[in-house]
Amino acid sequence: MKKIGFIGIGKLGLDCAEVMAEKHEVRGYDIYPRTSDTVKVCDIEELVNESEWIFIAVPTPHAEGYDGSVPSSHMEPKDFGHEAVIDAIQKINKYAKSSKKVVLISTVLPGTTRRKFFPLLDPQHQFLYNPYLIAMGSVKWDMVNPEMVMIGTDDGNPNALAGELIDLYKTIMQNNPRYEIGTWDECEAMKIFYNTFISAKVGLVNMIQDFALRIGHINVDVVTDALARSTMRIMGPKYMTAGMGDAGACHPRDNIALRWLAKEYDIGYDLFDTVMHAREIQARNLAQFLVDKSNNLPIAIHGKAYKPDVPYCIGSYSTLVGHYIKELGHSVVYLDPLADDPADVVAELSGPHVVLWAHNRKITYEYTGDQLETQPYCEIPQGSVIVDPWRKLVDMTGLTVIHYGNTRPA
Ligand SMILES: NC(=O)c1ccc[n+]([C@@H]2O[C@H](COP(=O)([O-])OP(=O)(O)OC[C@H]3O[C@@H](n4cnc5c(N)ncnc54)[C@H](O)[C@@H]3O)[C@@H](O)[C@H]2O)c1
Repeated sequence: MKKIGFIGIGKLGLDCAEVMAEKHEVRGYDIYPRTSDTVKVCDIEELVNESEWIFIAVPTPHAEGYDGSVPSSHMEPKDFGHEAVIDAIQKINKYAKSSKKVVLISTVLPGTTRRKFFPLLDPQHQFLYNPYLIAMGSVKWDMVNPEMVMIGTDDGNPNALAGELIDLYKTIMQNNPRYEIGTWDECEAMKIFYNTFISAKVGLVNMIQDFALRIGHINVDVVTDALARSTMRIMGPKYMTAGMGDAGACHPRDNIALRWLAKEYDIGYDLFDTVMHAREIQARNLAQFLVDKSNNLPIAIHGKAYKPDVPYCIGSYSTLVGHYIKELGHSVVYLDPLADDPADVVAELSGPHVVLWAHNRKITYEYTGDQLETQPYCEIPQGSVIVDPWRKLVDMTGLTVIHYGNTRPA
């Protein structure tokens, strides 16, 4: 039996504390009067001193009008409030007479813990970031049947404290959940993007509903049920690897044409414009990254066709990135023996280049069972810098490999 304290026993914290109290000795502290049959509600000094583990479940509130119940998309974006978390940390520092295992549950945006909270915590304490995927109405059930448990450590490695927290959770879990260990920042991102993936999904299906109403002869359920049964590409892990943007003969032009349909039927918003705009800015960001890494080296893109093993350059994300490289005042060449558009395609590289590793045939074709890696289309000269947006290439002698999208310190 462990001695556990919960600071903040509100909508989330109280139920979670009561679940823990079925197996452990649990105290709770709140700035408002709270009662519980199983959690000992006490003052902060007793909670801090009597608890080995201290879970912080205080609010990280949004500003007035930023909860989504009234229109807010026209308003200035604002971060959550952090005062209560800071207050909880300061109280732990003030009252602790020995080292504590401090676990922050409250939802914050990526980067907040490292920037604002950890520096405030007395170094004698140990710390983990452990946000919960819990929904109102089913808090106690969600607590013991989570889809995953996210445990954030400073460097993303599963340290001893993370192991101890897993052992603690094993005493209460009913579904033998998946434990995901990452940096504090990665766990902040897992939690908040989990929620916003759901928002994006709901936004998409409701958009189909809007089209059904305006176009006619469409039952939205027939469409969304067919998509829901599409487990090959839509409802599954495919397309969950960040890398080059969506490309090809169909996807970009479908989105571009749907911008027309959204206007024609006056649905009042244009998600396709947002998606295509984001795709373009993502390509420009990648182009800027290549230019920044070039240090006077010329730039080459390894793969011009929109994917490996085909000649088609239609809808190619490589050429979109190339467009922005040129816009930034640099020249670019492409390596691709199959490309059906020969403009700027070369067969060899003379001297070192910055090389964007655009094609990754294993990622593109692994759903067919084909696991073969992309082989270099020519010899990559020594001294070159390879920017791998798929983060799969390993270090090679004489070449520098940069994994685009991984900013963990080496
Ligand atoms: N409610 C949910 O479904 C849910 C799910 C996942 C994550 N979260 C996150 O958990 C955190 C808590 O959410 P909640 O819904 O329980 O909020 P809540 O407002 O219901 O509860 C927070 C509790 O903390 C108390 N409190 C405020 N300031 C305090 C302080 N300085 N010291 C001690 N206690 C203090 C409040 O009195 C309240 O009882 C938030 O960051 C939220 O985003 C909530």
